[in-house]
Amino acid sequence: MRLFIGIPLDPAVVGELAALTERLKSPADGLRWSAAAGWHITLQFLGQTSEEQYKCAAAALCRIGHAPFDVDLDPPGFFDRAGVFFVDVRLSPELTSLQQRVVASTTPCGFIPEDRPYHPHITLAREKGGHRALRTLKSRIPARIRFSSFTATEFLLYQSFPGPGGSRYEVRERFPLASV
Ligand code: 2AM
Repeated sequence: MRLFIGIPLDPAVVGELAALTERLKSPADGLRWSAAAGWHITLQFLGQTSEEQYKCAAAALCRIGHAPFDVDLDPPGFFDRAGVFFVDVRLSPELTSLQQRVVASTTPCGFIPEDRPYHPHITLAREKGGHRALRTLKSRIPARIRFSSFTATEFLLYQSFPGPGGSRYEVRERFPLASV
């Protein structure tokens, strides 16, 4: 199974992002838009996972004691080479500490930490091919767009089911954030 760990978004923020994507979507725009129901901030991509690793990670993630914290969204951005349109997430000390604890928890289960710096974001669309679609999209992003902050109260273990129209995500485990 293919797994990743992420923070789900507050419904009000989902509404704001949905308003933006509805405004930007157009027929034959060359983009694959991600489904609002699956929007998340990835904490760690685990990739292909055995049943044993799953149990190990789920047990370790349960032991993370982390308080809820505010998540601030920044304006939209682009990973040009990967052809990704996303909304940036501010890297606060709290988000950094949660991400580091997640990675430290899963390492003993055989997951290899990424060596590139953590860049939290919410992927809204991916280019289907070529780089023209992203260029067109860039010119259509409203200036000075802002999104609400929200309080992260849990993080989730997701299973990803890749398909021809994009990946579908199912929540496998929920881990509440609680003040200790
Ligand atoms: P993305 O949104 O930037 O594509 C489920 O696929 C989640 O895991 C997505 O948030 C995705 O990031 C991330 N992801 C998928 N494949 C990945 C990989 N090989 N390395 C790191 N993150 C990955």
